[in-house]
Amino acid sequence: MKNIDSYTHVRGESLFVDDLMLRQDALIGLCFDSPKAHGKIKSVDYSKAEALDGVVKIFTYKDVLGENQIGGIIPDEPLWAEDEVHFWGQPIAFIVAKTTAIAKKARALITIDIEELPVITTAKEAKEKNSFINAPRSFKLGDSSKSFSECEYVFEGETFSNGQEHLYLETQGCYAVPLENGNIKLTSSTQGPTQVQKTAAKVLGIPMHKIEVDVIRLGGGFGGKEDQATPWAVMTAVAVQHLNRPVKYMLNRHDDLRMTGKRHPYSSFYKIGLTKDLKIKAFEVEFLQNSGAAADLSPAIAERTLFHATNSYFIPNVSTTVFSCKTNLPPNTAFRGFGGPQGMFVIESAIADAADKIGINKKQIQEVNLLAENDEFSYGQIATQVEAKNTWFTAKDTFDLEQLETEKTSFNKENNRFKKGISLMPITFGISFTNTQMNHARALIHIYQDGSVGISTGAVEMGQSVNTKMLQVAQTVLGVSAAKLKLETTNTTRVANTSPSAASSTADLNGKAVEMACNTLIERLTEVAATLTSSEEKNISFQEDFVFIDGKKSTISWEDVISQAMVQRVALTENAHYATPIIHFDKSKEKGHPFAYHVYGTAITTTTVDCLRGTYEIDAVKIVHDFGKSMNLGIDIGQVEGALAQGIGWMTMEEIAYNSDGRLLSNALSTYKVPDIFSTPKIVETVPVKTAGNDMAIQKSKAVGEPPLMYGIGAYFAIQEAVKEFNPNYKLKFHSPFTPEKVLMGLYENQ
Ligand code: MTE
Ligand code: HPA
Ligand code: MOS
Repeated sequence: MKNIDSYTHVRGESLFVDDLMLRQDALIGLCFDSPKAHGKIKSVDYSKAEALDGVVKIFTYKDVLGENQIGGIIPDEPLWAEDEVHFWGQPIAFIVAKTTAIAKKARALITIDIEELPVITTAKEAKEKNSFINAPRSFKLGDSSKSFSECEYVFEGETFSNGQEHLYLETQGCYAVPLENGNIKLTSSTQGPTQVQKTAAKVLGIPMHKIEVDVIRLGGGFGGKEDQATPWAVMTAVAVQHLNRPVKYMLNRHDDLRMTGKRHPYSSFYKIGLTKDLKIKAFEVEFLQNSGAAADLSPAIAERTLFHATNSYFIPNVSTTVFSCKTNLPPNTAFRGFGGPQGMFVIESAIADAADKIGINKKQIQEVNLLAENDEFSYGQIATQVEAKNTWFTAKDTFDLEQLETEKTSFNKENNRFKKGISLMPITFGISFTNTQMNHARALIHIYQDGSVGISTGAVEMGQSVNTKMLQVAQTVLGVSAAKLKLETTNTTRVANTSPSAASSTADLNGKAVEMACNTLIERLTEVAATLTSSEEKNISFQEDFVFIDGKKSTISWEDVISQAMVQRVALTENAHYATPIIHFDKSKEKGHPFAYHVYGTAITTTTVDCLRGTYEIDAVKIVHDFGKSMNLGIDIGQVEGALAQGIGWMTMEEIAYNSDGRLLSNALSTYKVPDIFSTPKIVETVPVKTAGNDMAIQKSKAVGEPPLMYGIGAYFAIQEAVKEFNPNYKLKFHSPFTPEKVLMGLYENQ
């Protein structure tokens, strides 16, 4: 099935928040945010702004009738700053005016007096000053400190991976409309409609049932709208509560870049020990996560870093610790991979370091340590249906690694100015929200009396094509054509208490609920069809919009059965609830079985570095990926390619920069480079590995949204190899992104 949105996307007809026709009395909102990263607010003068013609009201924390608190995991973040500010861009007030132009003018008229306090921008500095979000977490397996003494090789080092801007095409925004009796409808660009509803109710001091959140679709989320779509929606809701008029707020790109959090930068310290035959015997890491000024999702992200700290390798003795370091940056947040990529960059760096110092190729260490069946992860889960070796060796075979390496060697011999590098990047990613209680979803299905069907779930469409997958599930179970099925918007009054669409689990969780609801409906309709056709229920099936008897098409259509069901007063609506079985995790022991299953894969990356200029091109990324049994290979390969481009961007060019005052320097697309058509690999080839699929995945089709991002890490090490080929004195550094500037320095250092 084609992505069901492609037709309206291509024609520009798909609706986003900014496309909604506003009510005639609608007003526009705009945030006034902190011009300093840390300080005490001495005074704010709104008088000139308030006096401006067309300004309706300026809201501050004083207008909050409930709680001025939006922190999800830890209540440590005010909606609007009260007497202190903790990051540059922190919301202080909300201007509501007749037009955007007036609101902007008003914002420029506000003056603020801040007594500045010391600013922390790096995780290292925060650790030195004991500035943390919460207590550190540690995972342990075996006895790492004892095992180092039994190792032939022991190496220690430091890594840094930078943040990353989500750069969803559609910026954050919400349109809030008052309904009767103090009820409010929010059309929000959020991955978490329930989180918006719950937080709005709390801040407004009203029950959740008074807030309806509707999500049509997002122009991308990438984790940036899992938690951080909430404040803007709540601000518009507060304004509606006071003014009883619709209020819309769409952030422009500059405001969005400045005020929202990003992927967490990490500084990490590793120690790796190997035996003579290159088995990794012991591994220790201290991760310093730069969490920003408030918790947001940082604790959950820190946890996933620990889950993925050993990537696709079995290491018998592991000790990993993560500190969520509180700094004066905007609170960093979920971003595709959710802390996993940051963990995996460190183990890959440690292996590269070890290989370099031993004087062998990195892949020799990788290959002998790949996960096998029944290996234990550091968090106690036993690996089953492992495809780590399968994807690794299939990739080597399918893409003829030997030939690629021969070509590289002869190219490097013949060329002085250009050098090629190759890397292998295996991935292993756990599927499920790491927080067990979040793994549930619901679906509500209406069959209308003409036979058409409306499907509601908690899934948010953000470009990952989850709606198409939901429709496919319904189509398979109901046996009707796609034209009869409609995916409704995601709405809290139809499907309540949802988890955000995240953790790559949306299709699994909501799809299973759709499957259950459709199965129940089919059970009922089978009874009706049996009477209609005077045959036994066990012989009846629904296919191609008709009743089939003993596998043969009858003359009774789907519509006939639905009409008869109406006559017999059979319920044509069903609601189902799915909660992932098996999974559990005990935080007091840091052990359990947190993931329904894992996704595996291996990428081979080839690059060419221009050793005069320090620029590089990614020649090819060739991937063998574990889709399980893909229910829609077109969509799934699209996810692999998109995630790969995003991963390469993170590793090679996207450079977030703050100055020491905590101001974002990379605050526009002229100073923040994202992958474009020229920087994508010239060849991307994705081959599905042959497997039986996994029953915990929807229709055995494994989750695909986040795992392939981590193939992008391979680009770092391929470039690194090319630099080393040119400059044997280059001392390996693990400081991403590997920008052309850093490549150039590496090419000519120590010469
Ligand atoms: N693909 C597109 N086109 N747009 C997005 O915003 N988000 C990613 C991934 N793929 C995203 C995307 C992230 S961070 C996640 S967690 C998953 O999709 C969420 O959707 P899923 O659970 O349906 O895979
Ligand atoms: N992934 C994404 N979002 C989450 C998770 C997770 O594992 N846990 C809590 N929120
Ligand atoms: Mo994705 S980072 O779990 O929204």
